[in-house]
Amino acid sequence: MKVIKFILLLCTLLAKDISSSGLVTALPHPTSASPVSLGLLYGRADTDVTEGKIGGEWKIVGNSGVEAMHIAVVSHNEIVIIDKVEANPIKQANGNPAISTLYNIETNEYRILNLDSDTFCTAGSWFSNGTLLHAGGAENQFGYNEGYQSIRFFTPGDGADWSEIPGGMTSRRWYPAMATLPSGDVLVFGGAYKGTGKNNAGINNPTYEIWPAAGGVPEKAFDMPFLTETLPYNLYAFLHVMPNNEGKQIAFVFVNKQGILYDFDTATILKRLPEMPGGHRSYPLTGNSVLLPLNPPYYKPIVMICGGNTEMEIETLSEASCGRIDPTEDNPQWEMDDFGGVGRVMPDSVIMPTGKILYLNGAGAGFAGYHRGPNTNPLYVAIKPVLAPSVYDPETKEWSRFAPSTIPRMYHSVATLVSDGRIFVAGSNPQGDVYTESEFPTEYRVEMFSPPYLLTGLVRPKITSVGEYTELNTQRIPVSYGLNVEVTVISGQDVPNFKAVVIHHGFVTHSNHFSQRFVSCNIMSAKYLKKRDTSILLTVEMPPYSSILPPGPSYLYILDNEVPADAAVELLLN
Ligand SMILES: *[C@@H]1O[C@H](CO)[C@@H](O)[C@H](O)[C@H]1NC(C)=O
Repeated sequence: MKVIKFILLLCTLLAKDISSSGLVTALPHPTSASPVSLGLLYGRADTDVTEGKIGGEWKIVGNSGVEAMHIAVVSHNEIVIIDKVEANPIKQANGNPAISTLYNIETNEYRILNLDSDTFCTAGSWFSNGTLLHAGGAENQFGYNEGYQSIRFFTPGDGADWSEIPGGMTSRRWYPAMATLPSGDVLVFGGAYKGTGKNNAGINNPTYEIWPAAGGVPEKAFDMPFLTETLPYNLYAFLHVMPNNEGKQIAFVFVNKQGILYDFDTATILKRLPEMPGGHRSYPLTGNSVLLPLNPPYYKPIVMICGGNTEMEIETLSEASCGRIDPTEDNPQWEMDDFGGVGRVMPDSVIMPTGKILYLNGAGAGFAGYHRGPNTNPLYVAIKPVLAPSVYDPETKEWSRFAPSTIPRMYHSVATLVSDGRIFVAGSNPQGDVYTESEFPTEYRVEMFSPPYLLTGLVRPKITSVGEYTELNTQRIPVSYGLNVEVTVISGQDVPNFKAVVIHHGFVTHSNHFSQRFVSCNIMSAKYLKKRDTSILLTVEMPPYSSILPPGPSYLYILDNEVPADAAVELLLN
């Protein structure tokens, strides 16, 4: 009989070992921090990058139609792309230059979507029912209305398009942060009353509002004095909901160098974290924050913040430091490292199906913003594009690098994992309008990066059924928290060795990956359906609580010896 390896962890451990505070039990924190060093490497990959397949493979696959300033994975094969208002060459139905498309990763073609208001520097997050909420914007131009206070909805499906509540928010928000709360409601947090290079007290909007999943509009906005204390680098806050088993809505909130633990049910600060060492981490000294993979039974929430810069100077090398912290510990401390020796401002972070973190895009010096001077003689405020991704292993804390891209991805670029395991990379446009004849042009080329796990030569597993569903990715499969789901997988490998993970891709813009989560699942059992067959029945336990993985759309990835299935399956978790 063939042997199948799988992870079996008993769920009874879970209830027993969660601390009485309701927050997930913390492990002891490391005692010493490693020194911070400045990165001196940018441009092409340094010499220790392994070329070719071991370092992954880049391909230019298509054209995004509009510049990819904001994206969301909205189905197993589609990505919604949202630009700002600018003179893109394609037109929407009413004749205005298009600013949104729906990109198909199988055909590499797009369909033009229709919007009414300016979407410049907005954010998004999913309602628990599977509708994407998109909020904020900027001034009117090119036939578009002002969008500062707009709320927009997108529900994926045949012929789906945007709908909008003009002026729907309680106040104007440019550069707001967003998150899906455990309740399924959507938080819209902070922002500025108008566009700015860096925020100031005159335009700061130190409030948040919560959009109810049950329908209707927020009754009021809540004051957030933390956003006044942290001026001027306080836009696009990093938000991560913290796991707990008491149904609490607690999030880690971080801007500039300051982090707090905030209870959204009682509107109170529970804890202030020590100031993070190193430079500033928020716009225009833009860094990145990722919640590292959550693993049963403790789902210990370790946040890792990387990159940014120390000052708003073009020649200043980007921050080559990362800090990790578990904000739920009794006495949380930052554990610093050197970001793999490569400084980056405006990094994107993508959690890969293997649980390793891919850092890509951004620049080795400078800050986020448009170029200065005329298009024909631009002075770019971010320079030295970093073309080779850095890879971080959250378990060993080791860094490595993958093969470089050839396309600089500067201010306003994006990256996300897609259901087939590749990484979608697009965007870049450090100018106020379309300009293609430049060192850092308005960039429409879409790249796909295939990480080494897709190039091993090992046969990829195939998911053939999930629960009672045998037609996969024709609709979202509804599952509930804690449910044991039967998943049939075909393995072509000699000694199958499975992992099951659920990933929420969130909403990506300006180096923020709002609500991005990776949660490992317990595989409770695995058995061959027939003797000497390649079909294997796995019983996969869904994450137990909505504070661990937000309600709404997420994707089930099955890995066989670290090679992900040819297609992850879209779920609707509630
Ligand atoms: C989901 O909820 C939002 C907010 O109540 C609503 O606007 C949207 O139409 C709902 N979507 C679906 C698919 O029911």
